[in-house]
Amino acid sequence: MRRPLLIGNWKMNMTLGEGEEFVRRLAGEDLGHGEGIDLVICPPFTLLPPLAARLAPTPLMLGAQNMHWEKEGAYTGEISGLMLREWGVRYVLVGHSERRSYFGETDEYVGRKATAAFALGLLPVVCVGESGEERRAAKTEEVIRRQLLAAIELLATEEERRRLIVAYEPVWAIGTGMAARASDAAAVIASIRALLHQRWGDLAKEVRILYGGSVTPENIADFTGKPGIDGALAGNSSLKPASFAAMARALSREGRG
Ligand code: 13P
Repeated sequence: MRRPLLIGNWKMNMTLGEGEEFVRRLAGEDLGHGEGIDLVICPPFTLLPPLAARLAPTPLMLGAQNMHWEKEGAYTGEISGLMLREWGVRYVLVGHSERRSYFGETDEYVGRKATAAFALGLLPVVCVGESGEERRAAKTEEVIRRQLLAAIELLATEEERRRLIVAYEPVWAIGTGMAARASDAAAVIASIRALLHQRWGDLAKEVRILYGGSVTPENIADFTGKPGIDGALAGNSSLKPASFAAMARALSREGRG
């Protein structure tokens, strides 16, 4: 059974004081039946150590927004999975479209990162998604196929394959307030699962696939109510404790855990 999953990606937001305030205020919010679902926040690297201790008594788990594929070495400005693990990080986003478009992250890098994350006991969340231009040119499926196959190419064990998490985030829906139509997102996600099934057979049924792109407390249930969509990756609406909690409650209500 696939556990519903909500991930908040804080991107380059939140000072230490703001992050601590978020956790303090979240403690006063109703998160629904937290046991049946997985709740994760991905703060900036600088907040991982101070928030790790504060999140320990809560149901929230820590994720990182990126990592390097090597454990250590001469890679100025990078953070390794080994370093993340030391702070209790469990999840790591790889191949977010902002990394791909602003920092030149290639499909090959994404594949290396996903593999390295598993090797260190972290769960990679492989982000895929087409740009507006690619969508208009009817290239959505082709782009996602390319991104996904590169990311999973090196995943050799059954354990890795069944624990993979994929996030479908159409680039044109990110930060625009224009979420995809839930039926369109469900169709793309079904094609992702079909592709995984072609490669891996029934293990594909265990892979969690999320939708991301202008998810809000108001629309999250439209997505997660669709069979095949196992949760959400939220940016802006994960920055406020009340809206993060409202999304967690909506996900709990799906009761598919
Ligand atoms: P928004 O929810 O702000 O559109 O961001 C989505 C996203 O990029 C999450 O990774």
